Amino acid sequence: MLDEIKRIGHDFESTLKSAGTSAALEELRVHYFGRKGGVIPTLFSRLKEVAKEQKKDVGDALNKLRDRLESELKEKHERIATEESARKQSRDIIDVTLPARTPHLGHLHPVTIVRREMETIFSEMGYSLDPGPEIETDWYNFEALNFTPDHPARDTQDTFFVDVESPARDGGMKDLPYLLRTHTSNVQIRSMENHRPPVKVLSCGRVYRRDEITMRRSPMFHQAEGFLVDKGIHIGHLRATLEHFIKRLFGEDSKMRMRPSFFPFTEPSAEVDMSCVFCKGAGCGTCSQTGWMEILGCGMIHPQVLRNVGIDPEEWSGFAFGLGLDRCAMIKFDIPNIRTLFENDLRVLEQF
Ligand code: PHE
Repeated sequence: MLDEIKRIGHDFESTLKSAGTSAALEELRVHYFGRKGGVIPTLFSRLKEVAKEQKKDVGDALNKLRDRLESELKEKHERIATEESARKQSRDIIDVTLPARTPHLGHLHPVTIVRREMETIFSEMGYSLDPGPEIETDWYNFEALNFTPDHPARDTQDTFFVDVESPARDGGMKDLPYLLRTHTSNVQIRSMENHRPPVKVLSCGRVYRRDEITMRRSPMFHQAEGFLVDKGIHIGHLRATLEHFIKRLFGEDSKMRMRPSFFPFTEPSAEVDMSCVFCKGAGCGTCSQTGWMEILGCGMIHPQVLRNVGIDPEEWSGFAFGLGLDRCAMIKFDIPNIRTLFENDLRVLEQF
């Protein structure tokens, strides 16, 4: 058995040398000291078979072997652990000279870009900004704007009704239910109720109509509404304001024209076209060869609307105009389909 002990001690040297990782070392430890079948415990259990006179020598040799193996394993374990942690540290080191990863930047939505440009243009002309509520009563969305209850113009602005009754204007009684506003013109009434003239307001926000989804229509879209009430305001002021606005938003070489139209809350009313931004008026596919693009509706505020909010039309007059912000964005950025604006596709949005 003494020879066996010597041989085991010998073999251990070479196996220890080849164990280069803490995992290999652990395997070695289990091989020699494992409770079940480990080389050293097995030798100790065989001690009882050794002849009496040899027992002391074998026992001494065995104890020595155990102590040597233990201490060599321990020593190597410590060395490898230090090496491994040093290697890990050098791996984790922060290289401050590496170029920084740029954060993923967001982009303004095309409609927001147009809205902000418009708000800037009108703020510079002294207009206040007021988005107004999207859930509205019949009075502010229709009736005060001269859409009487059975007015046929209501058909063009069928909307979504909210299943809650709104408070009546005369106090306790219930009024017609709330609805999702069909245009931003509700802000005209709300502003004039709250502020005596002179008033100048620009209102941008979401509006809703019971529309089919097509290339140019969506049940939700964005409008901008501007209006001004003061003394001696006439259609020339309206035209000059719109001309200034169109040139600022679409370029100095843009031209505009007014065509007679109808809105219940303006008299006279007009539809405004601007020269096609793509062909500059020569005629192309986008403007159906006309050279013009319809851009907004406008007119002089109807005297009845002024009376509805307690303003004397003999003393004050004003103009109003309304346009689709989505349509402006589509023209400005050459986007053919309105749905593109609402699908939140990053590949589209990242282009702006
Ligand atoms: N509110 C009208 C619409 O949505 C647009 C408009 C606004 C027309 C102001 C005239 C004056 O169609």
